[in-house]
Amino acid sequence: MKTKVTAKIKSVIARDKKVMLTTTRSSYPFVVEKGNGSRVFDVSGNEFIDFSSFISVYNLGVNANEQIRTAVKNQADKLMHAAFTDFYSELPVTFAEKLIRKFPKGFGRVFLSNSGTEANEAAIKFSRLFTKRQYTLSFYNAFHGRTMGSLSLTASKAAQREHFGPFNNTVHVPYAYCYRCPFGKEYPSCGMECVDYIRKYPLSKEVSPKEVSAIFIEPIQGEGGYIVPPKEFIKGVREIATNNGMLLVSDEVQSGYMRTGKFLALDSFGVEADIYTMAKAIAGGLPMGATITRSSLGDIPAGSHANTFGGNLVSAAAANASIDYLNENKSKIDGEIRSKSSVIFKRLNSMKERYELIGDVRGIGLMIGVELVRNKKSKEPAVNEREAILSRCFENGLILLPAGVSTIRIIPPITISMEDLKKGLDILEESITSAESSLPK
Ligand SMILES: Cc1ncc(COP(=O)(O)O)c(C=O)c1O
Repeated sequence: MKTKVTAKIKSVIARDKKVMLTTTRSSYPFVVEKGNGSRVFDVSGNEFIDFSSFISVYNLGVNANEQIRTAVKNQADKLMHAAFTDFYSELPVTFAEKLIRKFPKGFGRVFLSNSGTEANEAAIKFSRLFTKRQYTLSFYNAFHGRTMGSLSLTASKAAQREHFGPFNNTVHVPYAYCYRCPFGKEYPSCGMECVDYIRKYPLSKEVSPKEVSAIFIEPIQGEGGYIVPPKEFIKGVREIATNNGMLLVSDEVQSGYMRTGKFLALDSFGVEADIYTMAKAIAGGLPMGATITRSSLGDIPAGSHANTFGGNLVSAAAANASIDYLNENKSKIDGEIRSKSSVIFKRLNSMKERYELIGDVRGIGLMIGVELVRNKKSKEPAVNEREAILSRCFENGLILLPAGVSTIRIIPPITISMEDLKKGLDILEESITSAESSLPK
């Protein structure tokens, strides 16, 4: 059934525009009311299949997990806020213990906050504290958040930084975006020039490696375009950090928590970081950020970092219920990610053969990007076509998000039914067919 944009929908959007400061809203009029699993409904009863997990938050289904909902309700009746950085309470500690067990050996300390950006702010401060160095290094197309510290690392779109400087001391370097190699090379014959570049230029001519506290990296770039680097890239970056006494911070805010089929996305690259940051999915739909450090880095001095709401008891109850669910259903979840990922890749790769618009299909597990181009040879980004596809999908009952300049993210809840997954892919293909017909012949 076609989505009906009713007077109610228009009225909520008009009221929003009057009182809310503008953010990054999608181009289509989605006024959400409720959701269950991979189906979501707007205020006028329009029904959609969800391929967004509401920005990689509802990995276990949109509001669908009964264990999480029950834990939230029970805790709300008992006590919601416990000033966890001032007083002690058990639930956040229990969660930290369970979280650490999902990490490589040697990870033993957690700081809890409320969002991805806050988890990264903490990682910036801790890296400075642990190394007594001031600079950070991050990548073009990176997105680490929008508060001043994390925004210093973010370099995805200039509009996100315009008027907000000056920033922290950060050096940005190219990421291994092989579909559009910044060095004009082809992988693997490139010899990983992007890794050499970091040593040869920024770390030789701009900043002494002795002054860099940490390299921040997304194992798969998210907001910047769902960019998957070769393993050698991440290994090369790890080596630079290790050889120069810098810490490696893996931002798993979007890619972590089973999105790629592993708890940590970095695990797919065969290296370990020194600090990990997580948020989005970890409390099943409630706000929570976590910064997890290697035990050998030690503790931070009392009074140097804290917050009001970190370790909030309702969020902690949800996080415990969510991680328990993951642990109890591990093999089922692993299997679901594998089979659904394979269905999506098969379908998208076959579409890539048939549509000029599909330039690249990439991803790991259920973190998949489709980069759209107006011409496969010139790789001209299909910016307007991407918007048209997202809007047409919305009209036909599918929620999708953009990434980068002309990429579509496919990040359904892990628990989506095979039937909904295939229906969603049908809607996507129909929209691509329609957009393709408007390309110049
Ligand atoms: C990789 C990554 N890091 C950090 C953030 C910021 O998280 P938040 O919006 O919760 O502050 C995001 C958000 O999209 C992200 O994708």
